[in-house]
Amino acid sequence: MAERAPGDQRRVAILISGRGSNMRALIEQSSGYQVVLVASNKPQAPGLDYARGAGIPTWTWDSKGVAREEFEAALDRALRDHRVGTIALAGYMRLLSSRFVEQWGGRIVNIHPSLLPKYPGLDTHARAIAARDTVAGCSVHIVTEKVDAGKVLGQIEVAIEAGDDASALEQRVLEAEHRLYPKALREFVRQ
Ligand code: GRF
Repeated sequence: MAERAPGDQRRVAILISGRGSNMRALIEQSSGYQVVLVASNKPQAPGLDYARGAGIPTWTWDSKGVAREEFEAALDRALRDHRVGTIALAGYMRLLSSRFVEQWGGRIVNIHPSLLPKYPGLDTHARAIAARDTVAGCSVHIVTEKVDAGKVLGQIEVAIEAGDDASALEQRVLEAEHRLYPKALREFVRQ
C-alpha cells in the first residue's frame, strides 16, 4: 500500500455495507466537510442508490472471497484518487486490517449504537435491555486496531423505556445517531 496522500481532511469518504441511513444523514447535513466518495464492499447495498442520486461518486467491490489485503489495496487507491482525508464508517461490516488503520493514521471514525465503552460489538440494544440499563445511546469514536475501542468523540444518551424491546430501542437510538454523527464529524475534521 502506498503512503497516503495528504488529502484535505474535510474531504470525507463514507464506507457502508447496507442500508446507509447514517450515510444519508452525513450527506444531508454536510457542512464543514464534503462527502466526496461513498464506498461499499457490497455492490447491492441499498445506501448506494441514495448516494448516486445525490451525485456522489461511488466505489464498490464485492469483498466476498477477496483477500483482505487485495481488497484494501484497491479501496485505498480509490480513496487516494478522490483525495480523501477522513474516512467515516457507517454500518461498514468488514473489519479493517491493522495495516489499513495504521496507514490512515487516526483519520477513520465510526458510529456505534451504544455508550462506549459499554457494549462493543453486536446486539448492543438487546444487551442493554437484558442488563436492565435505564440509559442507552450511541457513540462516535476514532477507529483503532481494537474493535469499538478508540477515543470517543461524542455521545448521545437515549432513555430505555419500560416495555422497550431491542427494535423499539434501536429505532430511537438510530434517530440520535443521525443527529450525532454529522456534528461529531464536523468537529473532528476541524482538528
Ligand atoms: C447503525 O446502527 C450504526 O450505529 C452501526 O450500524 C448501523 C448502520 O445503520 N454501526 P445504517 O446503515 O447507517 O442505517
